[in-house]
Amino acid sequence: MRLKHLATFLRLPNPPAPSRCIFWPGNFIMQSSLECKKRLHVAMIMDGNGRWATARGLPRTAGHHAGVAALQRVCEAAPALGVTTLSLFAFSSDNWRRPRGEVSALMALLRRYLRTEIARLVETGTRLTVIGRRDRLPDGLASEIAAAEGRTASGEALHLRVALDYSARDAVLRAVTACEPGVELTRETLGRLISGEHDAEHRDVDLLIRSGGEKRLSDFLLWECAYAELFFSDRMWPDFGAEDLAAAVNDFRKRERRFGGVGNARAFPPRVPSTPAHLFPTAFNLEQPLLHHPYDINSGSVTGEDLGLKTRSAPCSVASPGRYSSR
Ligand code: FPP
Repeated sequence: MRLKHLATFLRLPNPPAPSRCIFWPGNFIMQSSLECKKRLHVAMIMDGNGRWATARGLPRTAGHHAGVAALQRVCEAAPALGVTTLSLFAFSSDNWRRPRGEVSALMALLRRYLRTEIARLVETGTRLTVIGRRDRLPDGLASEIAAAEGRTASGEALHLRVALDYSARDAVLRAVTACEPGVELTRETLGRLISGEHDAEHRDVDLLIRSGGEKRLSDFLLWECAYAELFFSDRMWPDFGAEDLAAAVNDFRKRERRFGGVGNARAFPPRVPSTPAHLFPTAFNLEQPLLHHPYDINSGSVTGEDLGLKTRSAPCSVASPGRYSSR
């Protein structure tokens, strides 16, 4: 009897759908469905505070105030959605260029957040850490951060990483220059140095969300986002809520991450009987050397002409562009 039928027979809830992770030859694990991933690292670029405030005839700082409430809503919703690490871009190293009043207001907000939220963070099992430079922060803020990190260190429900005076390029630069001469740099060691995280789970970003309608990375977690899925929302950050986070996570879970390989559906493409195998060297015959690039990037199809074949005039679609696929 199948597990599902046994569950029905015993009046038990249906067992969860089996995860569809497949193991790829050569020690390569392909995450074909995001159902597999239970503990997500989501990064957020919280954009749109200023525009939100301006549209309401308010000073920009009012947008940042409202942005803190959005941040709280998102933190509250995250664990139930399987988000166990949340990296938030609160202040970039380029944000020092903003008017002095706005910078001071942001720093004051952060200080207030640390003071007023600490009890809630402890209570909800939220571990807070801050990434970025601390030596340029206003007096006393760095030690308040260290105290908050200490008090929340045992939180396990959510790891909240707040990026402050943060630049991804500077993080890479610092990591490389801090490296001892003669020490071999690997992706693992460099990744650890860049992110400051020992645990890979907190390093690689699964999903990057940017609110506010812009579509750029703004020097946020560039190394860690190497294979992140990107989600851009038109919602201004102060209006962002649990349902927006849920929509982004649900969208992410429908995507297929191929990490440069071919996906589950493309792994064993149907054989097209009339198509000689040598036309599909990457899909059918890995030994076949590629003499020239048969993939027409404009149409996504390969034609007989492209391949120097006189016999075939109609284009035949490429089931898998294989190693030519854009990553
Ligand atoms: C970008 O919006 C937002 C920021 C630079 C600051 C984000 C800060 C918060 C949400 C609150 C403080 C955070 C903590 C952790 C307490 P923008 O001002 O660039 O918006 P705009 O593009 O509409 O001008």
